[in-house]
Amino acid sequence: MRKPIENPEIFQKRRKKIMGGLHGAALIVAAHPEQVRNDDVDHSYRQDSNMYYLTGFEEPESFVMIRPGKNPETVMFVRAKNIERETWDGFRFGPDGTKQEFRIDEVYPIEDFRSKAVELLKGYDEVYYSVFKNAEADILMQHVLTELKRSSGRTGYGLVTIKDADTFLGEYRLRKDQDDLANQRQACLISAEAHIAAMKFTKPGVNERQVQAVLSYEFLMRGSARVGYPYIVASGANATTLHYNFNDQACKDGDLLLIDAGAEYNYYSGDITRTFPVNGKFSSAQRKVYEGVLKIQKDIIAYIKPGVFFKDLHEMAADRLTDLMFELGLLSGRKSDAMKANEHRKYYPHGVGHWLGMDVHDSGLYLINDVPRPIEAGMCFTVEPGLYIPYNDKTAPAELRGIGVRIEDNVVVTPNGCENLTALAPKEIDDIEKIVGTAR
Ligand code: GLY
Ligand code: MN
Ligand code: MN
Repeated sequence: MRKPIENPEIFQKRRKKIMGGLHGAALIVAAHPEQVRNDDVDHSYRQDSNMYYLTGFEEPESFVMIRPGKNPETVMFVRAKNIERETWDGFRFGPDGTKQEFRIDEVYPIEDFRSKAVELLKGYDEVYYSVFKNAEADILMQHVLTELKRSSGRTGYGLVTIKDADTFLGEYRLRKDQDDLANQRQACLISAEAHIAAMKFTKPGVNERQVQAVLSYEFLMRGSARVGYPYIVASGANATTLHYNFNDQACKDGDLLLIDAGAEYNYYSGDITRTFPVNGKFSSAQRKVYEGVLKIQKDIIAYIKPGVFFKDLHEMAADRLTDLMFELGLLSGRKSDAMKANEHRKYYPHGVGHWLGMDVHDSGLYLINDVPRPIEAGMCFTVEPGLYIPYNDKTAPAELRGIGVRIEDNVVVTPNGCENLTALAPKEIDDIEKIVGTAR
C-alpha cells in the first residue's frame, strides 16, 4: 500500500506559480517512461523531475496538463485501478484517488488521453511539451496534435506551436523557494554525513567498493531513496579519470581517495566531492596540490553573491588553476600563451560547477539569448575546481603524476553572498587528517 503524499499544498503552490508564466499557453508533462531491461527485469522507477515537481505523483504512464484560467485548470491522466496488476507492481492511485490525494481538478484514465487532450487543447495556439523524453508519450502527443490540426478544418491554421517545457520549467526549478530548499538542504546534509562516515572507514587495504557500501548505507539509513548520480570512488590515479565508476580497486597506502557521491532526498540531489589520503596523512606532493585547489575553491565560494555572473566563476577557476599549474611546474612559458592554447585544459578539463536541484545537473539556462546571466538569491549550484595529473604524463614532475584532486561543495545564493550547504563534510587538511581511518 502506498502512503498518500505528505504535502499536496507544496505541489499545488508550484502549479499556481508556474501558471503565471504560461501567458495563454497550456503545459503538458509526461511521466518518465518505464524502464524494462531486455531480460525482463524492471529497474526501480524514478519519476520525471518535472512531473514530480508539479504533482508529487510517482507512477509511470501518466500526464499532467495545466490550463491557467480554464475549467478544469489542472488535469491528469493516470493508470486505472487494477487489482491484479497491483498485486504484481504495487499500488495505483487510480483517477479518483489521484484527484483527491493530489488535489487535481479532473483526472481521467490514461486510455482517454487521445480523445480528452484534443478536447482540452482546442483553441490553444501554444503548448509547452518536452519531446524525446518518453517515446510512447510522444506518439500519443503526435496523435493529439494531428487530430487538433484536422479539427481546425479549412481555416488555414497549421499545427499548434510546441515550446519546450524543460526550458520553461527550468527557470522555476532554478530559483529555489523555502520548500525546495528544505529538501535541497536535507540532501546535502545526508550527503555530507555519509562522506564523513566514508572518511572514517577508509584505511589502506579497503576496497573502493566497500567505501561505496558505507556511503550507500548512510544514504539509505538517513532517508535517501537513491543516489543523484553514479558513485565515483576513485583511489590513486583512478581519480584522474573524471567519470571513473568501476569502484573495484583496493585503496593503497600512500594514495589519495577521491569520492564524488550525492544522496537524493525527495528528488533533490546533493553533489559532494572530497579528496583525502587513504592513510590519513597527506604527502608533501599531495599537500601542495590539495592546498592549491582548496584555496581556489574557498576563494570562489567567497566571491559568490547576487549579480555575479556564473561565467565569471568559470573564468576565475580556470585562471587561478592555471596559476597553480605554473607553481607546480606543470606548465611553463607565458600564462597568456598557455591559456590561449588551452594548455590548462589538460589538467582541468571541466567547468567550475553546474546548477543543482532535482537533477544533479539541474535545469535552468546558463545564458539567456546568448548573454551570460547573473546569479540570483535562491539559486543552488556546485563549486568544484579540480586538478588531474595523468599517471603517464612525462612532462609533469614525477612526484605529481597520478594525483587527482577535486573539492566540490553545494551552495545556495543568499541576498549578500552564499551559504555552503555541504560545509559539514571536512575539507581542511587538519580536519581530514584527524578523521580518516578513525572508525572502530
Ligand atoms: N558528480 C557529477 C558532477 O560533479 O558533476
Ligand atoms: Mn558536480
Ligand atoms: Mn560531483
